Amino acid sequence: MDAQDAPIDSQRRGSVSFALEGTEGASVIRPSHARRVVLLVATILGASAFATAAAPAEALTVTPFSRPLIVPKVLTGSNITLTARLADVQILPGAKTRMWTYNGTFPGPTIRRPTGQTTTVTLVNNLPAEAGELTLHNHGNHSTPENDGQPDDRLAATGGGKVTYTYTGTENGGNERGATQWYHDHRMDVTGRNVWMGLAGMYIIDDAADPQTLPKGSFDVPLMLTDRSFDANNQLSYRPSGNVGLTGNRILVNGVPHPYFVVGDRKYRLRILNASNSRSYDLALSNGQAFIQIGTESGLLPAPVKRTRISIAPAERVDVVIDFAKKLGQKIVLQNLAADGSLRQLMQFRVTRDLTDNSSVPTKLRALPKLDATSAVTRTFVLSRSRLTGQWLINGLTFDPNRIDAQPKLGTTETWIFKNGSSSNHVIHLHDVDQQLVSRNGVAAKPWERMKESWNLGIGETIVLKVKFTDNLGKFVFHCHILEHEDDAMMAQMEVVP
Ligand code: C2O
Ligand code: CU
Ligand code: CU
Repeated sequence: MDAQDAPIDSQRRGSVSFALEGTEGASVIRPSHARRVVLLVATILGASAFATAAAPAEALTVTPFSRPLIVPKVLTGSNITLTARLADVQILPGAKTRMWTYNGTFPGPTIRRPTGQTTTVTLVNNLPAEAGELTLHNHGNHSTPENDGQPDDRLAATGGGKVTYTYTGTENGGNERGATQWYHDHRMDVTGRNVWMGLAGMYIIDDAADPQTLPKGSFDVPLMLTDRSFDANNQLSYRPSGNVGLTGNRILVNGVPHPYFVVGDRKYRLRILNASNSRSYDLALSNGQAFIQIGTESGLLPAPVKRTRISIAPAERVDVVIDFAKKLGQKIVLQNLAADGSLRQLMQFRVTRDLTDNSSVPTKLRALPKLDATSAVTRTFVLSRSRLTGQWLINGLTFDPNRIDAQPKLGTTETWIFKNGSSSNHVIHLHDVDQQLVSRNGVAAKPWERMKESWNLGIGETIVLKVKFTDNLGKFVFHCHILEHEDDAMMAQMEVVP
């Protein structure tokens, strides 16, 4: 193979390995039409064109539950700086892993802010030039288009480029609802690579209108689930197979493989985020105990719901309470029933501390905002895969930044229908706006998915949403949050108009 035709996938995605001394990734960001031509050629050549180098030797296995959980540092100030830079992070035993981080850690720091207050986040791009320009998206936030961290807008240039994003903490004329959000890179075509290399962290909005008796302080813990693969030197490599979602062969909780977490015999609030590129998890506790789900991506549920199994697709969050009362001396494993072996053992709770519990989960949490009757507008979006190019499509199209796919009017509520007509699951995520589920496959919304902003659609599934275009005018993207699908241009654009 010569350099022209060999690593098609690496040309398209930007690199095979991230040794970082080379310049291999320099041509990462490419115009979308070029990408499409490359993909078309790749498809004609057949799937073997994607088989780049042989799989690297693997890192050693890790004994489950041998390392403590790490809780990322919390930043609470109104002016925050996130510097994207290389850092050597201790993920596996032995050699550290060179990652692309925010402020030197993976996950990045947790940003925690009261609703209704303005926050600025300044992104500084100190990554090597091969990473290219960056953009920072506050996922779940009600941001104006300029502050939304869109894929091709207000980019932080390499060599110390800066962009400041301003979040007002408001929505629909009032305070934004308390919510577990997250931030991540969103650069066109390379979001999957950038997040895989480490560019993600959590963003929590605290809201005095939420019940204050829920577990708080050190009993309110964010858990970020990611999967990654490592080579024999403990280094990451991003090697997606074409536009099929990439899964890693290890699962990390807050960047730690199979951590243990020392807890007391009381209630804990766990804000679980699936920040994986493509992997979904099916969560269950090893003792059969139920989670008390209190929230989703969009804040608290109207009432708590007991669930023994919770599936969580990329970008989804579940806010749960686990009550370890009467469990003193026990070890309880958070399992992933969607996988076997070590991929099933996410983390272990060791109930060793005898504590009093002054927290409670009220029977009523937070009413959903009432969305007005929908306007006459119904839009239908079909998810499919091109027979010709193999690309993922929304209504037969790939993303074109110059095309507007929907023009809803500010203040109105529309019906949006998504139908998955492809042979893969997809996770549809709409920026900026409130979304409530009317039905899934013709069945009324279950209590735990009435309001969200990232929606998993299994093969053949259809969801009907009410979408209110509340506060911001302008253009916003919506896309599949399986990051290799997103980078394959499974994205569309709406423009909210007056
Ligand atoms: Cu989490 Cu458009 O993104
Ligand atoms: Cu988002
Ligand atoms: Cu998808």
